[in-house]
Amino acid sequence: MIALKTEAEVEVTARNAQLLAQILVEVALEVRPGVTTEELDRSAETRIRSAGARPAFKGYRGYPATLCVSVNEEIVHGIPSERRLREGDIVSLDLGLERDGYYADAALTVGVGRITPEAERLLEVTRGALRNAIKAARVGGYVSDLSHAIGRYATEHGFYVVREFVGHGIGRELHEDPQIPNFGEPGHGTVLREGMILCPEPMVKGDDLPVRMEGDGWTAVTASGALAAHYEEMVVVTASGPHVLTGGIWEAFCRRRT
Ligand code: MF3
Ligand code: CO
Repeated sequence: MIALKTEAEVEVTARNAQLLAQILVEVALEVRPGVTTEELDRSAETRIRSAGARPAFKGYRGYPATLCVSVNEEIVHGIPSERRLREGDIVSLDLGLERDGYYADAALTVGVGRITPEAERLLEVTRGALRNAIKAARVGGYVSDLSHAIGRYATEHGFYVVREFVGHGIGRELHEDPQIPNFGEPGHGTVLREGMILCPEPMVKGDDLPVRMEGDGWTAVTASGALAAHYEEMVVVTASGPHVLTGGIWEAFCRRRT
């Protein structure tokens, strides 16, 4: 069952998405050599609570923190710790909040100082995959069009998608139907309709092996140690096309970073 949102619900969600995007950019700007992932988590939580919202991940299926911080070969759901970031690391920040009964969820990957050209390329390709998924979020299209757009773009550019984790709908719950895999054939399954709010979240990596789970039960890593990247935005399907409620987090980050 896919919940179609009313105009009023989209409005509340848009406000929450904007707040989330703003906080995610602030936290991403704090990424630098020497900072601990726990410090980023505390910053995210303080900012969320100051805005009258609540961290969405904390306590979700027992997840212990506000932010997911996944470094280098870590793909998603890295738990904040005393680990200090180092020049050349790539860091995926995934953040969710709830306010007024509606959820927001987004992610981006940033480099710590200078990163290798290969890492830079991985980040660019993952963003390209997300851009194409967003373009596919049109009335009358299919959920699988987003999946196909992600998988095709990543593989055409020499990388591989993560098959074990999916994007999702969002609303009164953090994870709603439909699931949005990062691969698949276009043009089948659920038809896209006005009022669907979707979170495509491409996870892209340098190897084609099944992901490995760390002993903490949360952190997913690449089996070969290859780098992985992750971007996620919230998009609402409208009669006039896809509308990105989170407003382009990478672009906002780059505007602020200079
Ligand atoms: N963006 C991720 C997702 O949609 C974040 C979930 S982290 C969790 O799965 F802790 F809440 F599980
Ligand atoms: Co998500």
